[in-house]
Amino acid sequence: NQLFKSIPGSSISNVPRRTSKVTVVGVGNVGMACAQTILTQDLCDELALVDVVEEKLKGEMLDLQHAAAFLPRSKILADTDYKVTADSDICIVTAGARQREGESRLALVEKNVSLFKKIIPQLVKHSPDTILLIISNPVDALTYVAYKLSGLPPNRVIGSGTNLDSSRFRWLLADHLDVNAQNVHGYIVGEHGDSSVPLWSSVSVGGIPIISYLKQRHIDYNPDTLSELHRIVVDGAYEVIKLKGYTSWAIGYSVASLVKSVLRDQRRIHPVSVCSQGFHGIKDQAYLSLPAEIGRSGIIGVMDSPLTDEEREQLQKSAKTMAEIQKKLDI
Ligand code: NAD
Ligand code: LAC
Repeated sequence: NQLFKSIPGSSISNVPRRTSKVTVVGVGNVGMACAQTILTQDLCDELALVDVVEEKLKGEMLDLQHAAAFLPRSKILADTDYKVTADSDICIVTAGARQREGESRLALVEKNVSLFKKIIPQLVKHSPDTILLIISNPVDALTYVAYKLSGLPPNRVIGSGTNLDSSRFRWLLADHLDVNAQNVHGYIVGEHGDSSVPLWSSVSVGGIPIISYLKQRHIDYNPDTLSELHRIVVDGAYEVIKLKGYTSWAIGYSVASLVKSVLRDQRRIHPVSVCSQGFHGIKDQAYLSLPAEIGRSGIIGVMDSPLTDEEREQLQKSAKTMAEIQKKLDI
């Protein structure tokens, strides 16, 4: 009376199963945007959620599980105990305080460092081979903190950094020029936030350097227009926070794209937060974003992109700011 009968001679119970597992710590706005984007993009077989607020955690888990009939199959787990995270390929950390209206990301550093002291050792204890993907702000300083607290090699501790700022930048340019943002290439590097640096010298549209593109399309520009576009990128998060209280969707997609690059070994180049020492004349062990090739082992390499003198100077200034903050951290 069995509905499914195995084919005589088959052996289905001993097949080794390779599952990809992602953990998300913090089930607030950002954690849930990451979780749902990862699930809809079919990026893992198992998703573990962790938070300190037990009821909210269980509610979020059930709400996602109830979408099973509309999603690719994934096992969704949740617990306040880090055992649930065991053997994760990637652990995404979104836990912690967020900015209030007008507050800078850097104002959150002390509060979130003390949370990281509880979170990071637990993650590494249960998944010693994991890759840590840090999102909580200030993301550059906290990526450095996670690196220090985890004892993991630097290629396995990545901060989402300016992957998001670069998407805002590409969207603005694409909107201005009325083309698809995926055909606009350009990087914002440095701090995720106020001292970020736009690499205008390498912006291109459909492979054509931006200045030639504007000339060919008879579009007037002056350096003020370019710096105004960067100012809008920097103010972007402040504006969204003022309007809706927090940012979530864009960071969710940014994180899913990083998870995809790692788990599918995509070797795409993303601007992410890494140790910048030795690049572009930076002497300190400052964490900030540079374009990096990302694959299954995490950061495969950091691009030593050619910069103009002005870009290098701005990046070095951003690195000084980050190094000063890192020096003051109690870790
Ligand atoms: P939120 O308040 O909605 O969620 C934070 C969650 O963290 C809450 O569910 C809270 O219970 C949980 N939490 C607190 N302490 C914890 C602990 N010890 N262990 C586990 N979970 C804990 O905030 P949010 O809007 O989701 O933002 C989260 C963080 O992400 C903030 O620091 C924010 O600034 C940052 N952020 C970063 C980027 C980026 O580009 N890097 C973008 C958006 C937001
Ligand atoms: C962002 C957050 C607030 O959306 O860092 O840029």
